[in-house]
Amino acid sequence: MKGLVLSGGAGTRLRPLTYTGAKQLVPVANRPILFYVIDNLIDAGIDDIGIIISPETGREVEAALGDGSAFGARFTFIVQDRPAGLAHAVLTARSYLGDSDFVMYLGDNLIGTKIRQSVAEFRADPSLAGWVMLKEVENPSQFGVAVVDAAGNVTSLVEKPAVPPSNLALVGIYFFRTSVFDAILRIAPSRRGELEITDAIAKLIELGGKVRFARVTSWWLDTGKKDDMLLANDTVLDEWLVHDVAGEVCPASRLVGRVRVAPGAKIERSTVRGPVIIGAGATIRDARVGPFTSIGERVLVERSTVEHSVLMEGAHISDIRRLEDSLIGKRVCVRPSSARHGSLSLMVGDDCVVEIEGG
Ligand code: TTP
Repeated sequence: MKGLVLSGGAGTRLRPLTYTGAKQLVPVANRPILFYVIDNLIDAGIDDIGIIISPETGREVEAALGDGSAFGARFTFIVQDRPAGLAHAVLTARSYLGDSDFVMYLGDNLIGTKIRQSVAEFRADPSLAGWVMLKEVENPSQFGVAVVDAAGNVTSLVEKPAVPPSNLALVGIYFFRTSVFDAILRIAPSRRGELEITDAIAKLIELGGKVRFARVTSWWLDTGKKDDMLLANDTVLDEWLVHDVAGEVCPASRLVGRVRVAPGAKIERSTVRGPVIIGAGATIRDARVGPFTSIGERVLVERSTVEHSVLMEGAHISDIRRLEDSLIGKRVCVRPSSARHGSLSLMVGDDCVVEIEGG
């Protein structure tokens, strides 16, 4: 069985971060989301993995992943010339997939469970044409939604319905056999102009294919927007972070709870309250950091308090009384202004959100 990871797309909801980088490489607990996706596939015994990339961000995704040897896998990169939909991405990968069954996994989805058991069940039952992972949600209108019967089969699907027929959302993990290609070739683009995977699965069922499902009972984070990203960061730090201090911590500093300090990071006269991860070459000086905070490589935090935030590599935070609930991009500087009369002095890129005290 092969893997197909979708790492193309436009990522409009995570602007401005996605102007300069792929959304699947945005870090959660200092690791790109995409790495957790690969981990889950490898854990299920899938190590021949095709990666769909876009012309805009593909090179960066390739550079981050390498050829797969670092993961004990083999990667094949497949360029999708435009983000024409999830089913279009599957068609683009047709020659790579050949006659293999495959797991399709959206490169920006994080779930708290392994898919190993579901993969084994799908492989063991050749009568199945497809398999989807479903999660009960409170706001099904924002997702692809499935209707299921008591025997465990999916009976119908609809993309972002105004009146949802159930509260079971499609998590972005699907298993298919080659029969899916025939279904995709028989569907037309949706109103938003995309070849939808929900339409393809509905067609597969209409053509007589049996599609089963598993419920995801753990957390699922579709990391579309800032607050989703912060929640993903909280959850991964909370559940998976292991205390490990490899960097330098001066005696006047205090680490409380689970804190991971990478080699080459320095903590000077500061308090770090876990869960917190601090990347290589970062410096925390005369500061308070945490809880629920990820500090990227070469970040500097000095004379500041930072809580419940993600600071990406090379960011500098100086003399800030309190920074919280923030997602700070690469090499961003946040510092007090030297201007008088309480005026602000900003250099901020397109689509940024700057929230300041007062009005
Ligand atoms: P989406 O979140 O549906 O789309 P998007 O990445 O374009 O994001 P936005 O809505 O913010 O503009 O995509 C789900 C995943 O699939 C994501 O990792 C990108 C990927 N994808 C492709 O690889 N090819 C495609 O044609 C599309 C639509 C998405």
